[in-house]
Amino acid sequence: MQALPFKEYVKVEGWDFVDPSEYLREHAKTLTPEFWLQVAQELDWFVKPTRSIEGEPPFYRWFRDGRLNMSYLCLDRHVRGGKRHKVALFWLGEDGTERVLTYGQYYRLVNRLAYAFSHKWGLKKGDRVAIYMPMIPELPAVMLALARIGVIFSVVFSGFSANALADRIKDSGARYLITADGYLRRGKRILLQENVRKAIAQSPVEGVLVFERLGGEWERGERDVMADDFLADVPANVHVEPIPVESDHPLFILYTSGTTGKPKGIVHDTGGYAVLLHATMDWVFDAREEDVYWCAADIGWITGHSYIVFGPFMKALTSVMYEGVPNWPDPGIWWSIAERYGVSIFYTSPTAIRLLMRYSDEYVERYDLSTLRILHSVGEPINPEAWWWFYEKVGRRRCPVGSTWWMTETGGVMVSHTPGWKLVPLKPGTNGYPIPGVNVAVYRADGSEAPRGERGYFTITTPWPGMPLTIWGDDERYVKTYWQKFPGKFYTGDYAIMDDDGYVWVLGRADEVMNVAGHRLGTYEIESAIVEHEAVSEAAVVGVPDEVKGEVPVAFVVLKEGYTPSEELKEEIKRTVREILSPIATPKEVVFVSKLPKTRSGKIMRRLLRAVFLGQPLGDVTTLEDEASVEEIKRAYEQLKGEMA
Ligand code: WTA
Repeated sequence: MQALPFKEYVKVEGWDFVDPSEYLREHAKTLTPEFWLQVAQELDWFVKPTRSIEGEPPFYRWFRDGRLNMSYLCLDRHVRGGKRHKVALFWLGEDGTERVLTYGQYYRLVNRLAYAFSHKWGLKKGDRVAIYMPMIPELPAVMLALARIGVIFSVVFSGFSANALADRIKDSGARYLITADGYLRRGKRILLQENVRKAIAQSPVEGVLVFERLGGEWERGERDVMADDFLADVPANVHVEPIPVESDHPLFILYTSGTTGKPKGIVHDTGGYAVLLHATMDWVFDAREEDVYWCAADIGWITGHSYIVFGPFMKALTSVMYEGVPNWPDPGIWWSIAERYGVSIFYTSPTAIRLLMRYSDEYVERYDLSTLRILHSVGEPINPEAWWWFYEKVGRRRCPVGSTWWMTETGGVMVSHTPGWKLVPLKPGTNGYPIPGVNVAVYRADGSEAPRGERGYFTITTPWPGMPLTIWGDDERYVKTYWQKFPGKFYTGDYAIMDDDGYVWVLGRADEVMNVAGHRLGTYEIESAIVEHEAVSEAAVVGVPDEVKGEVPVAFVVLKEGYTPSEELKEEIKRTVREILSPIATPKEVVFVSKLPKTRSGKIMRRLLRAVFLGQPLGDVTTLEDEASVEEIKRAYEQLKGEMA
């Protein structure tokens, strides 16, 4: 690991900076339940909450006596408040198709959808619906329409396989599935029907609603309805009353990878989540009326839920959404879009930055990016080199650049520079301080606080609005996963260092979860996919560093009797992972071995596999059951390196 610049302070010209001591002094005042109750009053509730936090730890409930509706917060009040004609979204397709939707148009579409959902499908508060849609303007509308009638939705990333989709439909008990015919990616038409067909064969739903992005790419089955037909007889001006839901009514379930077992359905409430997003849009993004906002994530992940849909819509911002990837048709495409729409707030991932900085700087220099004001990254640690490139080449040394730390479970940003509250000097690569109302700590394994500068386990020490209600259908797992390692505190699963100034530096996962290009993947999930291949007896997957993606999976595979290692088999195993899980999870390498290194108690020693792959010292191997297994892996790896050379 390169040394982190703990002592490098960057102050951006034109911005006011406060001393860390001032930040910490003011921050300390915010660590009370009353603080959050006060922030909550800024929202437009149907019934204002008078209570802050309640509930049986760790099943906290926020603002319990409040009533609100997310769809109302995101649309009705803007439409009534004179913003009917304000642009909500500039959408750009990869083929250059542009669609512009105002808040008034979204309001109309959302009401018509909500009407059809309740009248045609009979959906009611508390029902679940799965969404498997690419980045098209209808996706936020579907989410807001379901929220309007209290239906709990679960968005499944459109790059996921049929199996992943089926699992999520089943686990959430979704009655319906909403999807689209496909999307464009690097000039290719990616179709979704095959995955949908396979998924609902395993996990039946009552019906499927299909939006058309490509046109003519869906063979209509018995249970399918095309969006145009679904809405054809719904009056254009129909109004559906937004249901005032309890603050702790679940808004959505979002599945994320854990260390063992199937992905966990993280359940978020409505009120606490809305308050956190409202607050972080101000503090972290400094969002203002005139901003043009672009979060270049996918709505299939939490970043997109919180900071493409709900956060910016609550703030009535004008947003940009782009269908394609950052380096196609050329690596200047993003900057051309930023110039075209005059983007002022830009939010992306370190992986995208590292990808783009490999090309000539000309691709970014040729565009006028003078409208940019605030830059942030999310998803993984940003290495100082990438930070500097983002700061200098994109922000032209005029914009604060942050690395917002948070996770699916936290609902919104927890640790970040806060240019909209108080801005402390930046340090390239740090996450900074916790936001107001949130407190964090770095612990040693024994539960004592780690000394400054020492790596430890990253925890959130006080409950916060936006925290999960639970894991869908599995309260026990919720407690076990997050609240037991350090009783009463939320354990994030990350390693972090706190430096002498108290700035947080999250280093990456401390558990068996990988972070591939900002996407969370459990080693266990990939292993489970690999052993589905008929030739495989056992598999162990480890994450190894990658220059662009941060981390990539490498698989060690033991074959069953009667199978011999071959290139074809490697490719087949990779294909199995792609199909069962997702292309994101595809191992970079498959190494065949005759046994895996295990402890005497039978646990795979992934640490050793990683060390062998990286050519590092093995450390303590005394718990190893059979040292020969390591020797063999070394040999297998030497051979692999030979083949690759
Ligand atoms: C990692 C994404 C360092 C971390 C919002 C966390 C980060 C996991 C940062 C959550 C950051 C996210 N610096 N690491 N700024 N942001 N992470 O649930 O390991 O997809 O636990 O949420 O990403 O990933 P998730």
